[in-house]
Amino acid sequence: MSQGSQQSEPFYDVNRTYEDNYEEGPFGAFAEALRRDADVAPGDGAAGDAARTPADSFLGVPVNLAFGIPAGPLLNSRFTTAAFRMGFDLATYKTVRSRAWGCNPFPNVLAVHPKSADGSLTPGSPELDEGVLADTNYERPISISNSFGVPSQDPDLWQPDMFRAIEAAGPGQLLVPGFQGSRVEGMSEEEYIADHATTARLVKETGAKVMVMNTSCPNEGHNVLLCHNPLLVGRIAEAVKKEIGDTPLMVKLAYIPDDAALELMVKSTVGRGTVQGFSTINTISAKLVDANGDQALPGKGRERSGVCGNAIRGAGLDMVSRLAAIRDRLGLEFAINGVGGVVTPADYAAYKRAGADSVMSATGAMWDAELAHRIKATIGE
Ligand SMILES: Cc1cc2nc3c(=O)[nH]c(=O)nc-3n(C[C@H](O)[C@H](O)[C@H](O)COP(=O)(O)O)c2cc1C
Repeated sequence: MSQGSQQSEPFYDVNRTYEDNYEEGPFGAFAEALRRDADVAPGDGAAGDAARTPADSFLGVPVNLAFGIPAGPLLNSRFTTAAFRMGFDLATYKTVRSRAWGCNPFPNVLAVHPKSADGSLTPGSPELDEGVLADTNYERPISISNSFGVPSQDPDLWQPDMFRAIEAAGPGQLLVPGFQGSRVEGMSEEEYIADHATTARLVKETGAKVMVMNTSCPNEGHNVLLCHNPLLVGRIAEAVKKEIGDTPLMVKLAYIPDDAALELMVKSTVGRGTVQGFSTINTISAKLVDANGDQALPGKGRERSGVCGNAIRGAGLDMVSRLAAIRDRLGLEFAINGVGGVVTPADYAAYKRAGADSVMSATGAMWDAELAHRIKATIGE
């Protein structure tokens, strides 16, 4: 594959607002894929990949290759359909909520430049609190910060669109819906738990075969993550399971440094039969500064923001191997979806070696529409 295809125009245009992307995207090679799709008669090989027996699986559902795009850059069914047509066999529909929810002000993405030679950011390193340079100079290997606030359409809009997204999967491909609960002023803990269950039911109504519940965004207040409270996640998973029955449920986790806390998470979810897998990691929080050392993202509460892409691959691999070790130690069965800094086929392979059953790339895929094809080429798919 040529260098050119590795530097394709991102399918999510970071120079436009979230709303513009939602209405007009996807862009670049993903837009091309949709145009080609429109030229092919239904049932005439529109999925791009020839029908064959799926060799891999995701939460028990057969897929061609358990590689795809996690919750985030695929905003609606046009984005997820384009991802399918570009060979990403897992396409996650960006996290939805029980109600309409606004997006943080533009800009929502900046390039991030850690100081280390390999561009990595290690959890706990002082650089995360001292400030990491963030600007609009998007260099490879790509690291960015994303600051959206997990916007959502109203269920009346996202439910029919998610249905369309599910229907557009080709043979051996799977639409993975993402959802989360919404904490609003004055809500009791019971109401917050119930909101997760309601949202899961709304997702199930679209015909979803699996779902991923996000506990890894600052939905518990500024920089406080739900996944830092394993017992509450356990109670929520129980309420969600009552709504969705046999539909496999995966929980999205941020980086959790402490093994005891991670083990408690596994025991209070998988151990109680409510959760069948974990997807990890989400972004790593860092203070972002411009070239003058001033706050890089405008507005109150945006001094820090989540970093993703190349910089966080080490943290993602560490989290996946520790989860895999806990799986062995406890003798429990659950799936691990490895996420964080996958920008090349070698990164995909590293996650598989670390114990991931499936792998996804958000930032890497945004800047390389051919990533799934390149991975498939290296493993002879
Ligand atoms: C543009 C963008 C939007 C994102 N939005 C969400 C989201 O809505 N829900 C979620 O769970 N994660 C979201 N994420 C996080 C990704 O799913 C992923 O965990 C993180 O970016 C690390 O993967 P990466 O290094 O491949 O980007 C988003 C990421 C990006 C780049």
